[in-house]
Amino acid sequence: MKSTRLYTSESFFIEGGNPLRGKVQVSGSKNASLPILVASLLTKEENLVENVPDLLDTHTALELLGSLGVQVEFQDHRVRLQARELSSYRAPDAMVRRMRASVLVMGPLLARFGRAVVSMPGGCSIGVRSIDQHLRVFEKGGASIRIKHGYMDMEVKRIKPVEYTFEVITVTGTENALMFLSGCEKRSILRNIALEPEVLDLVEVLRKMGVEIHIEDRTAVVRGSRELRGFHHRVIPDRIEAGTFMVAGFITGGDVELQGVRVEHLGAVMDKLREAGAQVDVLSLDRLRVRSKGEIWPLSISTAEYPGFPTDMQAQFTVLCCLARGQSEIKENIFENRFQHVAELQRMGADIHVRDRLAIVRGVEKLYGAEVYSTDLRASASLVLAGLVAEGTTVVRDIHHLDRGYERLEEKLRALGATIERLPPEGS
Ligand code: EPU
Repeated sequence: MKSTRLYTSESFFIEGGNPLRGKVQVSGSKNASLPILVASLLTKEENLVENVPDLLDTHTALELLGSLGVQVEFQDHRVRLQARELSSYRAPDAMVRRMRASVLVMGPLLARFGRAVVSMPGGCSIGVRSIDQHLRVFEKGGASIRIKHGYMDMEVKRIKPVEYTFEVITVTGTENALMFLSGCEKRSILRNIALEPEVLDLVEVLRKMGVEIHIEDRTAVVRGSRELRGFHHRVIPDRIEAGTFMVAGFITGGDVELQGVRVEHLGAVMDKLREAGAQVDVLSLDRLRVRSKGEIWPLSISTAEYPGFPTDMQAQFTVLCCLARGQSEIKENIFENRFQHVAELQRMGADIHVRDRLAIVRGVEKLYGAEVYSTDLRASASLVLAGLVAEGTTVVRDIHHLDRGYERLEEKLRALGATIERLPPEGS
């Protein structure tokens, strides 16, 4: 499989066809870790975060915090952070481009230091992804925002209490708003907030720091403080990594036990797997077993905010639907451009038609190995899943996308019986 392009990024080489069997330990959640690490900016005191996944995005977040003046120590999934004083309030363009979640520093920087200068994130591969809702909350809280040379220059003297109803449900928007209002001593009310487990993990941290937060339905009442305490916290398990292994176990005709999960966070994913014909057994609050019973049935999936079916599992379930007996429908409601895996899956023999936000997937007998390209994190995970079930050899290129969010994926898959190798960049 020789190509004329030179690959500066690593690739996965996968020999498909092995059923995955055995036990796998799920890592800490990427999307919970990022805001929690950033919350360290809110206090002078030392913080300790455990169960932090060793990922490219974690290193980017720690590099950014380090560049702001936070003392950082990362070892064995534990991070010690202390923001005694800041040396900068600027999140440079290169950092925000590498990781959009860098915008999470806006809220805590404004809360603690009254100033933040952050590069404006542009669109990204899965959609336009505006941050207007984050900025609305800052403005309501009295912040001035000037946009100059691609940067948002934000300033606030004393944060005013806010009453705001989010126009769209936004995960990082809710997190930014909560961290911002942690610096306001008066009572604020946020309505229509995101209730993803990752948001609630941050809420737990903010409470440990001394912020009063009451949540009922989608409304949060927040009362912050000018002096917040340090915290010690263990990050929740990654429900998307867990879901990815669950799909892998099922579609390869295997039998996989997941350890260290939070079963309560996996409701929508378990429901859909059962509907597709998987045997899913809850062994305890933190252990699950997923087995194939032979058949894969088609599904109708519509992504939604938690507790609905997660958009971050849509690409992986698309692969499942490619192998189902019949026609599935997948509606992507969160992001407007999250079907980039489809073109690559078609190269492997998938029968998928996309119209706007709807994908019609007709099950095929088999997928066939091919050279395919990652476009974003979850799209790359879906290509790996497809490679695991395909006949022959698959090479997944540009896996730096995957390394942003899956810890030691190939090692974990190999331990379950997959044939998968990491290939170095060409010419290295
Ligand atoms: N939106 C707006 N205005 C805003 C904020 C969001 O219009 O101010 C729109 C977005 O354009 C999008 C929708 O609202 O269409 C939802 O976006 P949200 O803000 O919830 O997404 P996010 O916070 O940028 C987080 C995760 C994503 C995950 C989404 C949805 C982190 C760091 N990222 O993104 O994770 O897909 O929530 O659950 O928490 C991933 O891990 O692969 C990933 C992309």
